[in-house]
Amino acid sequence: MRTRIIGQRFIELPSVDSTNKYAADLLAAGEAVHGTVILAHEQTQGRGQRGRTWLSAPGLDIATSVVLSLAEWPVADQFALSKVAALAVHDVVADAMRYHVDGGTGRVRIKWPNDILVDRKKVAGILIQNEVVGGSVKGVVIGIGLNVNNSDLDAGLNATSLRIEIGLPQDRMALLELLCQRLEHWLDAMLRQDPALDDRYRELLWSRERFAHFELDGAPMEGRPLDVDRSGRLLVETADGRVEAFGLDRLRFAER
Ligand code: BTN
Repeated sequence: MRTRIIGQRFIELPSVDSTNKYAADLLAAGEAVHGTVILAHEQTQGRGQRGRTWLSAPGLDIATSVVLSLAEWPVADQFALSKVAALAVHDVVADAMRYHVDGGTGRVRIKWPNDILVDRKKVAGILIQNEVVGGSVKGVVIGIGLNVNNSDLDAGLNATSLRIEIGLPQDRMALLELLCQRLEHWLDAMLRQDPALDDRYRELLWSRERFAHFELDGAPMEGRPLDVDRSGRLLVETADGRVEAFGLDRLRFAER
């Protein structure tokens, strides 16, 4: 792996229930080296957001978890880790699309908080689990599921894969190496407090400054996503011109 830290320890598993669980167990046992990457060729009980399961096609997709151990990172800033992960996955997808699809790069967006879309379809999902001690995030597990070579996705899922978008099979290990490099790049930016992290995330927000359909406390709402605040709440301009911040506990994009 041509990286400094991320992926220097690399654990490749033929099959596991969940790479996030495997990584969390390593952390709990005090055996996780900063930058450890776990890749499973088959994941039997992949975990998704909101307690859902995540399906990846054995041998075809990427199911990976990256373990970080941070020195002093305030819990109040933990959403920065979501930005790091989302931007890294965005860069991998955009890079793959760049060579093969006209205007490909511009079609890749981050749907708040951290789904990666090509146009309106989800190509990757991210699940981050933090270990908090006192007011600091210490251990981090960044779980990433990227649909790579699966070309048989359930139409009802509103999902896509790189193979579907590009029309050619992709090299999973090359994608994983780039993913590690981009994670390293954005993690460095986060630790340096480089404003590029916030700027790029804002730029790539799906539906930014365009009206989108949401559910707020279960009721339909329309608004324009503008940015996120420090804690990761989405700043939405409502139809009457007010800008309000909403967390995932209240707001979600409407399923359409
Ligand atoms: C989502 O629901 O969008 C998040 C999906 C995250 C899936 C990945 S696959 C690798 C890692 N291990 C897991 O059990 N989940 C994450």
